[in-house]
Amino acid sequence: MTIRIFVPRDSAAKAVGADEVAAAIAAEAQRQNISIQIIRNSSRGMLWLEPFVEVETAEGRIGYGPVAEGDVQSLFAAKFHEGGKHSLCHGRVDDMAWLKNQERLTFARAGITDPVSVPDYVAHGGFAGLAKALIMAGAAIVAEVTESGLRGRGGAGFPTGIKWKTVHDARAEQKYVCCNADEGDSGTFADRMVMEGDPLMLIEGMTIAGIAAGATKGFIYIRSEYPDAIATMKEAIAAATSTNWLGQNIQGTDKSFTLEVRRGAGAYICGEETAMLESLEGKRGMVRAKPPIPALQGLFGQPTIINNVLSFAAVPYILAEGAAAYKNHGMGRSRGTLPFQLAGNIKQGGLVEKAFGITLGQLVNDFGGGTFSGRAIRAIQVGGPLGSYVPVSQLDLPMDYEAFAAKGAMVGHGGIVVFDDTVDMAQQARFAMEFCAIESCGKCTPCRIGSTRGVEVIDKITAGDNRAANMVLLEDLCQTMTDGSLCAMGGLTPMPVMSAVKHFPEDFARPSRLAAE
Ligand SMILES: Cc1cc2nc3c(=O)[nH]c(=O)nc-3n(C[C@H](O)[C@H](O)[C@H](O)COP(=O)(O)O)c2cc1C
Ligand code: SF4
Repeated sequence: MTIRIFVPRDSAAKAVGADEVAAAIAAEAQRQNISIQIIRNSSRGMLWLEPFVEVETAEGRIGYGPVAEGDVQSLFAAKFHEGGKHSLCHGRVDDMAWLKNQERLTFARAGITDPVSVPDYVAHGGFAGLAKALIMAGAAIVAEVTESGLRGRGGAGFPTGIKWKTVHDARAEQKYVCCNADEGDSGTFADRMVMEGDPLMLIEGMTIAGIAAGATKGFIYIRSEYPDAIATMKEAIAAATSTNWLGQNIQGTDKSFTLEVRRGAGAYICGEETAMLESLEGKRGMVRAKPPIPALQGLFGQPTIINNVLSFAAVPYILAEGAAAYKNHGMGRSRGTLPFQLAGNIKQGGLVEKAFGITLGQLVNDFGGGTFSGRAIRAIQVGGPLGSYVPVSQLDLPMDYEAFAAKGAMVGHGGIVVFDDTVDMAQQARFAMEFCAIESCGKCTPCRIGSTRGVEVIDKITAGDNRAANMVLLEDLCQTMTDGSLCAMGGLTPMPVMSAVKHFPEDFARPSRLAAE
C-alpha cells in the first residue's frame, strides 16, 4: 500500500527547509523500500511548526513538526509513516487545539489539498459557488454578496456588495476585475497563503465577481517579493483554464472570464488601488485623485472591481453556502471571519481565522502563546505600518472595525505584530515617519515633505532639543498630514505616531536608547 505523506510547498515552509525535508523523506523511503507518495500541500498556518509533515493513516492525518532534514531517519525509525510516536509528533492534526479552535471558512482547505489540483479542489467543495453563479443573474450575485455583509479585507472595510453594484450598474463595452495582491503591510501573509495554498479559490472568487459585474477580464497584481505565489497562481490559472473553469464559455455556459498575473513594481504605494491601476497600465505607481472612483473609471478608464485577495476568497463560500451562513459569524457591522496573522515577537506565529469579535488578547495569548522572547508584551501594532500601537491595557479590545476605530486604531488587513517590553516606542514612531518618507509617491505636500519633517522633529525630541515645543510641533504636523494628504499613506501615518505618543509618553520624555548608542 502506498502511504501518502504531505510536505508543504508554502514559501514559509520552504524558507525553513521543506524542500530538503521532502527530498530526504523520498530518499529514505526509497532506501528502505517503503512505497510512499509525497504530496506538496500548503501550510496549515502553524508557522512555528514548519516544516510540518503529515502522514495519512486510518485514524486521520498525524502531524510532525518542526521537522529538520536531520530528523528524517529517526522519524522512519519511529515508523512515522504508520503514524508512530516521536518527540516531534503532535497526534491527529484535526485534534490540534490551535486548529480546532478556529473558524476556517476561507482557509477550510489550507493544508488539506494539493493547491493546484482541480479534482482535489472540487472534491473539497471547490467551484460549488461558481457553479451556482453561472446560472444566476449578475444582480442576484451582487445581492447575495451585499447580504453577506462582506467588507473589503484590504484595509478600509468598504462594503464589497456596494462596490460590485456600482460596476454592475455602469454601462461600458469592457469592464475589469483587479485583485490587489500587493500585500505590503508588515506582518501580513494571508494573501500569500491563499495564492500559494488555495489559488483556485481566488480564481473562483474573481470569476464570480466578473460574472456579477459583466466583466470578462481580470488581473492579479502580485507583489514582486512573492515569486512562489506568482508561479503557483500561473499554474492554477492554467489548470482552471484546461478544465474550462476559466476562459471562454465556462462549463458550457455563455459566461467567459480570463485572468492574467501581473508582477508588482516593488513599492508599498502600489498597493493603494489607484497607484496599482497606474502600475498595471505600465506607468509609475502614483496615486490618482478621486473622483472618479475606479468602480466607474478604473483600469484603462473602464469600470473596475478592485478587491483584496481575502475579499475575493470569501466569495465562493458565500455563494456556495448562502449569505446567511457567512453573516452568522461576527459582531456588529463586522460580519464573517478574518484570517488574522500573528507576527513579530510571538511564540506561535501564524494564521488564525476567527469570526470578528475575538479579542486581541485571545489572539496573541491563547493562540500566539505570548512573546517569543518570553518577556512581557508592551505594544501590538494592528493593521500594518499605518496602524495604531495598541497598549497591553487594551488587550480586551474585540477585533471589530468599529471598536478599533473608536479607540483611534484600525483592524486593517488583520496583521498583528507583537513587541515586548524592550521596545522603544519613540523609535517606532520615528520608523513610521521614515517609512512614509521612503514610500511616499510624492504627489502631495503634507505626505512628501511632512514625513521627512516628522523624522527630524522626532529626532529633536529624543535628543532632548526643545522637547516640549517639538512635541506640540509633532502633533500639529500629524494633524496637517491627516487632514491634507491625498491618500491614506500620508493620511494614516500619524496613527502609529500619535498612538505611540499617547500610550507611551515616557519614551518621548527621555533620551532614546538607540540615539544614545
Ligand atoms: C498606502 C496604501 C497601501 C495599500 N496596500 C494595499 C495592499 O497591499 N493590498 C490591498 O488589498 N489593499 C491595499 N490598500 C487598500 C487599497 O487602496 C484598496 O482599498 C483595496 O485594495 C480595496 O479592496 P477591498 O475593498 O477588498 O479591501 C492600500 C492602501 C494604501 C493607502
Ligand atoms: S499621501 Fe503620500 S502616497 Fe498618498 S498621494 Fe500624497 S504623497 Fe502620494
